[in-house]
Amino acid sequence: MTASFVTVAYLGATILFILCLGGLSNQETSRRGNLYGIVGMTIAVLATVFGPQVMTAGLPYIIGAMLVGAVIGMYAARVVQMTQMPELVALMHSLVGLAAVLVGYANFIDPAVTVGLTPAENTIHEIEMYVGVLIGAITFSGSLIAFGKLAGKIGGKPMLLPARHWLNLAGLIAVIWFGYRFVAAHGVAEAMLPMLVMTVIALLFGVHMVMAIGGADMPVVVSMLNSYSGWAAAATGFMLSNDLLIVVGALVGSSGAILSYIMCNAMNRNFVSVIAGGFGSDGGAPKAAGGSAAPEGEVTPISAVETAEMLKEAKEVIIVPGYGMAVAQAQHTVHDITQALRERGVNVRFGIHPVAGRMPGHMNVLLAEAKVPYDIVFEMDELNEDFPNADVAMVIGANDIVNPAAQEDPTSPIAGMPVLEVWKAKHSIVMKRSMASGYAGVDNPLFYKDNNRMLFGDAKKMLDEVLVALKA
Ligand code: TAP
Repeated sequence: MTASFVTVAYLGATILFILCLGGLSNQETSRRGNLYGIVGMTIAVLATVFGPQVMTAGLPYIIGAMLVGAVIGMYAARVVQMTQMPELVALMHSLVGLAAVLVGYANFIDPAVTVGLTPAENTIHEIEMYVGVLIGAITFSGSLIAFGKLAGKIGGKPMLLPARHWLNLAGLIAVIWFGYRFVAAHGVAEAMLPMLVMTVIALLFGVHMVMAIGGADMPVVVSMLNSYSGWAAAATGFMLSNDLLIVVGALVGSSGAILSYIMCNAMNRNFVSVIAGGFGSDGGAPKAAGGSAAPEGEVTPISAVETAEMLKEAKEVIIVPGYGMAVAQAQHTVHDITQALRERGVNVRFGIHPVAGRMPGHMNVLLAEAKVPYDIVFEMDELNEDFPNADVAMVIGANDIVNPAAQEDPTSPIAGMPVLEVWKAKHSIVMKRSMASGYAGVDNPLFYKDNNRMLFGDAKKMLDEVLVALKA
């Protein structure tokens, strides 16, 4: 493949990636968006592998490695549960970071790379390598810790070292100093020590940054690491003089940053302090994931049959799904109940919180899988003021995202987080197995409100019973 053909292929792939991102921003076009991404990536990989930069002798190794990678990737995609997706994503970000580090070192020790460069070009190339390895190492270790936290292998509690901000500052100054030493060094042997020291500092910084973050803030961290992995890829593109990698890295980096910003708003976190790391841990620090707080007051249980009666009498129903619906895999029964109610003339709508579940768009994916019509699924902001008109607000396995303490208790760890105001409906029904708290580990005053009923049990089992009673 000639160089000009590769350039055209890269241009086509870039356009497809932009269309892909555009498609993914809406659930109705997301399948098409995904397809654009797959085609774009296929073109990009083929053009790179068969382009002039790869020697024929290297092809068997590349194809062999790609086959091994494809088998592992396909296996992981088949066995991973929907609820484990954030962990998988975190693990994949770590690989992007590791790749940036390895490419940086390979570039650094390969004398052929700098042949023919002017001194100025050489300095720029050294800075590219140094920054690429820096971002890659932070992304690598930070993502591994995020994976450990999300998978429950590392505790959700923030680890706050004394003078942690000073430690970070000292690390930053050291990285700049060793960067200067790296650029000023003559030859690989002399530059190796500053490069190695910087890599160790960057790895420690990644660990420190994510360890300092509380469990409830992990979604933002994953999206932020997504952004970092994009910048690591862009840095790799600079090292390899690969325009496509620079563009794609910048697309991933900026879209990840925008997503982090949206999620920060949804969780009422300050974007700047997220970027700086160590956020969500001052003052009312969220408790470790899965922790439970002492219940206050009395709750009023309800049976599945009574729930069905209430739903039958309603005109307006708003369903709020959460993480528990994903765990119970209750989305298909939710669809059947929705259909049964709509056939009876009940207006059923869904309210989706931006961080419901465990990953962005988690609920949308499940509802789409169950073929719930898109036009009755609304974002939190579109629906929140309609709750007073709803006869029944049915909460299915959600907890933090419907917690009135976010508005009513300034000392709550989730104070200020926007929530779906289900307690304003004429009646609310919360479906969950016990009085256990949600991800943020805080008690939920909604459960004790006079107009609220608790339907205890596994969401799938309970909804099956509700469906039978509805159809009876
Ligand atoms: P949570 O607050 O985690 O509450 C989920 C509830 O579901 C739990 O209280 C649990 O209570 C119940 N549950 C679990 N399994 C169930 C089952 N089989 N049947 C019925 N109920 C079940 O979820 P949420 O309201 O969706 O809020 C999301 C939380 O996760 C937020 O704090 C958010 O910040 C965080 N988070 C979000 C993301 C993204 S990007 N979406 C990523 C990571 C973390 P029982 O144990 O009593 O059943």
